[in-house]
Amino acid sequence: MTLSGSPTMPGAVPSLAVASSALGDRAGAAALAERLALPFLGVVKPRQVSEFDLLLFADDHGLALQATGKGAPGPVRVDFAGGKAGYRREHGGGTGQLVARAVGLQKTRARLHVLDATAGLGQDAFVLAGLGCQMTLFERSPIIHALLADGLARGLLNPTTSDIVARMTLHEGSSIDWLMAAGGEVADVIYLDPMFPHRDKSAAVKKEMQLFRPVVGDDDDAPALLAAALAAATYRVVVKRPRKAPSIEGPEPATRLEGKSSRYDIYSIKALPQG
Ligand SMILES: C[S@@+](CC[C@H](N)C(=O)[O-])C[C@H]1O[C@@H](n2cnc3c(N)ncnc32)[C@H](O)[C@@H]1O
Repeated sequence: MTLSGSPTMPGAVPSLAVASSALGDRAGAAALAERLALPFLGVVKPRQVSEFDLLLFADDHGLALQATGKGAPGPVRVDFAGGKAGYRREHGGGTGQLVARAVGLQKTRARLHVLDATAGLGQDAFVLAGLGCQMTLFERSPIIHALLADGLARGLLNPTTSDIVARMTLHEGSSIDWLMAAGGEVADVIYLDPMFPHRDKSAAVKKEMQLFRPVVGDDDDAPALLAAALAAATYRVVVKRPRKAPSIEGPEPATRLEGKSSRYDIYSIKALPQG
């Protein structure tokens, strides 16, 4: 399991346990602890826990990643129906959104199969599934995978998101290994959003990132992932980067699309089908 750095002490490895609230799924949390070989604390209040930095915490809203101790930021969980994802689903701007343009949704009426090789919390994949793409997702961090699997399961039960979530299939493990083993074309478009080493301490780093980075690390093998993706995509590989970050080491992208904070590097293989 990849754990590196710490939200409180940079460089230290954060300690992690599984727990639940009084109203959470205690049995499910205990089973998850066993599967991930993590300590199970039973029912706790995260602010009163001092022996662990982070909890995978099952409460009445599902599974979350929660920092412990007094004054810790709130939980990070996957919520496709509410919050940012829900707002974006209703008011996001359809195929005009940068991520949709980068994947090429304005250029084709074909239903694209997109492989999201760095699924994370599934936010980008949910936007693309909402625009009709068939999504295959890979996540290699067992902790992030558990959060995303829980969010997808809840999303499938919610009538406002079930049709979209039904187009998303999640796999656990390294997409590099899978792409290399598959050999040949496996998806129309392969989408990559690896972690980028962030040194900007002054910026208000999003809560998700504060908790996320120590858990997943810096994805230093992004060049190998890009190479594997280029060998396995039919039409294009799309890489999301912070706006000013260099491209992933390897071939130069054919085009770049810049937004306010992010940029999409597009590696074209051949033209998208018309319809
Ligand atoms: C920046 S996050 C992706 C965020 C995602 N685009 C979203 O919208 O929520 C990067 C994620 O990719 C995962 N990852 C990086 N390289 C991977 C690989 N080769 N296989 C599977 N997962 C990978 C990391 O564990 C991390 O969770």
